[in-house]
Amino acid sequence: DWTMAEFRETKIAEIRAQVGKGRVICGLSGGVDSAVAAVLIHEAIGDQLTCVFVDHGLMRSGEAEQVVSLFRGHYNIPLVHVNAEALFMNGLAGVTDPEAKRKFIGKTFIEVFEDEAKKIGGAEFLAQGTLYPDVIESVSFTGGPSVTIKSHHNVGGLPDRMNMELVEPLRELFKDEVRELGRELGLPDIFVGRHPFPGPGLAIRIPGEVTRERCDILRKADAIYLEEIRNAGLYDAIWQAFAVLLPVRSVGVMGDGRTYDSVLALRAVTSTDGMTAQAFEFPGGFLPRISTRIVNEVKGINRVTYDYTSKPPGTIEWE
Ligand code: XMP
Repeated sequence: DWTMAEFRETKIAEIRAQVGKGRVICGLSGGVDSAVAAVLIHEAIGDQLTCVFVDHGLMRSGEAEQVVSLFRGHYNIPLVHVNAEALFMNGLAGVTDPEAKRKFIGKTFIEVFEDEAKKIGGAEFLAQGTLYPDVIESVSFTGGPSVTIKSHHNVGGLPDRMNMELVEPLRELFKDEVRELGRELGLPDIFVGRHPFPGPGLAIRIPGEVTRERCDILRKADAIYLEEIRNAGLYDAIWQAFAVLLPVRSVGVMGDGRTYDSVLALRAVTSTDGMTAQAFEFPGGFLPRISTRIVNEVKGINRVTYDYTSKPPGTIEWE
């Protein structure tokens, strides 16, 4: 039995022993895991750590700004913010296959990160917020054969050619433990309690071709959905809630006109580790209200559906 305070002290000692006077670079994804890893490492070795935030333009509304202000403002951790939206959008043009999207985003992320690491220079350590489920899910899928269901873009480390030693202080932890550690380290509740967000971001919530316009439509709808979930006091009862913009158009009627716009799917699941999940049952009246708000407020969407699929046989994300 151990407490988070003890874990923190143990890890700090381990990081110091591993790194010595060396320099560490940490890639921030905008999510909780890499942020907690970075704050812990910063506590251990201070400004021997530099964080690099590769902003692929596939984050939710306001999140990139939140990461930057948290690191630069609140913690004063050295942070390089790379705006790579155009690069990612250009590369995603015409790509519709889910694994092709994941592979392109993973590969490009690494290339951009590698360029920045070279510019910073002199770092022999690479920090990552790898968790225990990442370690096992990348090896085999729970209860199933040993096949890759999805290539996680944050797993497997960076290519050997970077020739850096990995620092992965969260490898033994589950998500709920990472959150507890984050709170222990003083990260704001709103950040620590945030639902998990996949490395490839909104790209895997837009089946079919990803464009900046479709990202913007999805961001607006997703923000309304999450705002309503928070206002209803349901956010913490849900493991993950998000919207998926489908490559399907349907006919509708608004005012006295015909519409022919995209369909949006809403997803919300409960889970303890992301390996299995159940659809969340919203209280009566909640989903119809969200649906009305989204169709009225988001141009480009005229129909909203709810996804009731469990994992397995579904996965949490659609791609
Ligand atoms: P699935 O869709 O496989 O997702 O049921 C399980 C959990 O993993 C998240 N996820 C990812 N996280 N990089 C990540 O860091 C990824 O490439 C990735 N793909 C899925 C997903 O959001 C869910 O919490």
